[in-house]
Amino acid sequence: MKPIRVGLLGLGTVGAGVAKVCASHREELEEKIGAPVELAAVVDKDTTTPREGLDLGSLPFSDDPAKILGDPSIDIVVELIGGVEAARELILKALEGGKHVVTANKALLATHGAELYAKARACGRMLAFEAAVAGGIPIIRAVKEGLAANRVNSLYGIVNGTSNYILTKMTDEGSEFGQVLKEAQARGYAEADPTFDVEGVDSAHKLQVLATLAFRTAVKFDDIYVEGVSKITPQDIALAREMGFRIKLLAIAKSGDGALELRVHPTMIPEDSPMAAVSGVFNAVFMNGDVVGDLMFYGRGAGQLPTASSVWADIVEIARRLASGQAAVPQDLPILGNKPLQLKPFAEVRSAYYLYVLAKDQPSVLSRITGILGANDISIASVIQKGHQRSGAVPVVIMTHVAREGDMGKALQAIQGLPVVESGSARIIRIEESE
Ligand code: HSE
Repeated sequence: MKPIRVGLLGLGTVGAGVAKVCASHREELEEKIGAPVELAAVVDKDTTTPREGLDLGSLPFSDDPAKILGDPSIDIVVELIGGVEAARELILKALEGGKHVVTANKALLATHGAELYAKARACGRMLAFEAAVAGGIPIIRAVKEGLAANRVNSLYGIVNGTSNYILTKMTDEGSEFGQVLKEAQARGYAEADPTFDVEGVDSAHKLQVLATLAFRTAVKFDDIYVEGVSKITPQDIALAREMGFRIKLLAIAKSGDGALELRVHPTMIPEDSPMAAVSGVFNAVFMNGDVVGDLMFYGRGAGQLPTASSVWADIVEIARRLASGQAAVPQDLPILGNKPLQLKPFAEVRSAYYLYVLAKDQPSVLSRITGILGANDISIASVIQKGHQRSGAVPVVIMTHVAREGDMGKALQAIQGLPVVESGSARIIRIEESE
C-alpha cells in the first residue's frame, strides 16, 4: 500500500518528540492507520544544534520549507514552528497545495482560526489541532466527538502547565516566582515568550479554541478577559490556604440565559475540590454537558512527549482516512451553531471575591472600607485583620459573597483612593466554589 508521507515543519521541543515517537512506535502506528507512514521531510531553520535522543543525520532534514510545501507527494504537513504570521502563511499554502494540516499552534488558531478553518473547508482538507489545547489530554476529540450529543453548560480549565507548575511550587515549597519560571523554561514547558504563560495569554488562546468548539459560537480572542499569575504573592497563597482555598489559574467559560462568559484569571477554589489537586505541569478540564453531566479530564498539559502524543493522534486520524480513501468532510472542522451565544460583558459577570488591602490600624478604617463595599451592593462573608500595629499598615482580607464584577471594580477603585489604604495595595482574587 502507498505510504502516507508526513512533512514536519519545526524541530523544536515538540517536533523532536514527534520524530522520536515516529521512530519508537512506527509499527503500532502503521497498524492503527492501515498503511505505512513515513517522515518524508523535516524542516527547521536550525539544522545544527543537536536534539537529545535524535540522530539528525538519519532524518530527511533541511532548512527549506519548499522541501515540504513544494513536494506534491507529501500528504500531511505538521506545523510546529509556533508564532503567528509565518505559520499562518505556511498553513494556508499547505492547504492550497492540497495537503492536510496538523498544528499545535493555539496562538494562531485563537487569532486566525476562522480564516484557516474556512480555507481548509474550501480546499476540502483537514486541519487538526488536538495538541493546541491541554498538551497530551485528548480534549478536542472529547468535545467534538465524545460530547457530540451535549450542549455544554460550563467548562473550567487549568490549561497552562507553566503557570500551574509555578503556583504549585509557590504553594508547596514557598519558592520564589522567578526561580520557578526558569525551571519551567528549562523543562520545555514555557512558550518562547514566557509572558504568554504567566500573563494568562496562553490559557486564553486555549480557551478561545476550546470554547469555539464547545459552545459552537464565534469567540473573539480580544473579548476574553485575561489576567495571569505574575502578581500572585506568597502571602496571597498563604492566606488562601488559611481559609481552605488553593489559587489556580482557571480558564472559565459558562453559558446561561443565551449568553456566554469567558475569562482567564487566578482563582481561589476550595482545597478539597478535584481541580485543587491538579499539581505541577498537569492540566485538567472540568466540564458539564446537559446530557452527560459532570466530566473531568486530567493529564500532562505541556512537555515534549505528551504534546507529541496529541500530534500523532491527529496524524493517525488523517492518515487513516487517506488510507481508506475517505476525503475530509466539512464537519471535521469547528461548526458554529445557528443560534450563537452573545458574549456577556465582563462587568456583568458574577463572582465572589477575596479582597486584600494594606490599611492603617486605626478607628473606623474597617467601616470606611466595608461602607464602600456596601454602597456598591457587595455583601461581606468574612473579614480578617492580620496583626496590629500602632503605626504603619496591616493586611486586611475581606471575603465577599457573590457580586457583580462592575460593582467590584468601582469599589476597588474607591477603596484604593482612601487615604488610610496604602497606595497600590488593594487587589482582588476571584473565588469559584462550583467547579
Ligand atoms: N506553554 C504551554 C504551557 C505549553 O505551559 O502549558 C503547552 O501549550
